[in-house]
Amino acid sequence: MPTASIGLSVESLPKLVYHLPLMKGVYIQTYGCQMNVSDSDRMEAILDSIHYETVKTPQDADLVLVNTCSIREKAENKMSSFAHELKSLKSQKPGMLLGVTGCVAQQEKEQILKELPFVDLVLGPDNIDELPWALEKLNEDKSTPILRTEFDQESRVWESKTLIKNPGPSEFISVMKGCDHYCSYCIVPWTRGRERSRTIDSIIEDTRRLVNKGVREITFLGQNINTFGKRNNESLHELFYRAHEIDELRRIRFTTSHPGDLQDELIQCYVDLPKLCSYFHLPVQSGSDKILRAMRRFYTVEQYMEKVEKLKKARPDIALSSDIIVGFPGETDEDFRKTLEVVKASRYDNLYSFAYSPRPGTSASTRNNQISELEKKSRLMELQNLARQISKESHQQWEGQKIEIMLEGPSKKNPQFWTGRSSQNIPVHLAAKAGMKPGDFVLVNVVEGTLTHLMATLTNAASHKQPDLSN
Ligand code: SAH
Ligand code: SF4
Ligand code: F3S
Repeated sequence: MPTASIGLSVESLPKLVYHLPLMKGVYIQTYGCQMNVSDSDRMEAILDSIHYETVKTPQDADLVLVNTCSIREKAENKMSSFAHELKSLKSQKPGMLLGVTGCVAQQEKEQILKELPFVDLVLGPDNIDELPWALEKLNEDKSTPILRTEFDQESRVWESKTLIKNPGPSEFISVMKGCDHYCSYCIVPWTRGRERSRTIDSIIEDTRRLVNKGVREITFLGQNINTFGKRNNESLHELFYRAHEIDELRRIRFTTSHPGDLQDELIQCYVDLPKLCSYFHLPVQSGSDKILRAMRRFYTVEQYMEKVEKLKKARPDIALSSDIIVGFPGETDEDFRKTLEVVKASRYDNLYSFAYSPRPGTSASTRNNQISELEKKSRLMELQNLARQISKESHQQWEGQKIEIMLEGPSKKNPQFWTGRSSQNIPVHLAAKAGMKPGDFVLVNVVEGTLTHLMATLTNAASHKQPDLSN
């Protein structure tokens, strides 16, 4: 009787093949903020455990998920045009499933199924862990779409564990969810619910687990991370001091901060904790106190600038970035000029600027002092021109300096170059060299600063090598 070399009889093979799980393909399209990126990582890891592997195109997929954002109308439109593109693909591949997840799912609920009847699955951000259950149901009966958009009911602590299939050197950990601020333009409290934090112990456990898998940089995420832990008597600075003790963790980042909730204890972390990167995203939104009040932001420009000064004093090489909305209802040209002044005074390394987009259900959307689209566009252009000039000047200041960067991988545009990131979160390009690994820390000389990045050369000085984790 012929016998296979591993000691199995040939007859047993068909049975073995029968028991091998059948892999299916999933394609995840992600829009929106880092929180959505982190949720997509989570979905990928959950799906991996039920034998779905990630494929490169929707054409190769048995399941397509669109993880959506509804922060501005443009973001929301992206999801419906992507879904429409998939309609004809679905008719060619009748077994394919299409799911809409994330913030638009939470906001629109059954409306999605009415407008896009070829969608099989709608899951809100709090329901993504139900994916395996939902797919099993759909595989039994595809004729009834599944809609799950309930916020979980816990009132105090949010229990969760970070799930990432193949962690790279830099990863996100969501430390909280939701937002209690209700800024008058913002949809997030509606799409992500009330604010809830995880415990520091569980976040530290996650951090250690990821660090043991080779992660060297963690970005802690929350929509308003300055109020982290408020319902369970913990705080962000406590988390940072604890994370800082983890030996192999080299960099700590976090986002997003609300200036009104930024406390001195957090600023002190920039003095005490060298692993805390020299970068702070502190969205000002507007440079006019009148508009800040109308936005329900509850800080003044003077208070904001005081915090900027304190941060610069605590960490002189800190790079600041910000979000600004132009054309908020009632914004006059004079208000807008005040915003330009704040940008000049803060000298943001990077500015994210947006034309105000009325969001359904938010209090500012029905005000009768809306600004014309033309005016919004022209203010946005003027602001962006100023911001670009400042970014470029601020990057040029690095020319001639020696800095440490963490390597991320070959440059997407030109594989003869590698890309890394400075502590200030600026992308740095340098010539590729044999033996470079993502997660290596190297010292470089900056030769040129441009609007978007720094060009650098490797120095001879040794820095920190990432161990080979391929085995
Ligand atoms: N939690 C973060 C903001 C998340 S949304 C914070 O509080 O800073 C990211 C940015 O989108 C906001 O800072 C704001 O500048 C912008 N944004 C939010 N709603 C908007 C709207 N309706 N129109 C235009 N921009 C908006
Ligand atoms: Fe939106 Fe304001 Fe909450 Fe930020 S703080 S998520 S802008 S409501
Ligand atoms: Fe968008 Fe939701 Fe994030 S609305 S910005 S994906 S929280």
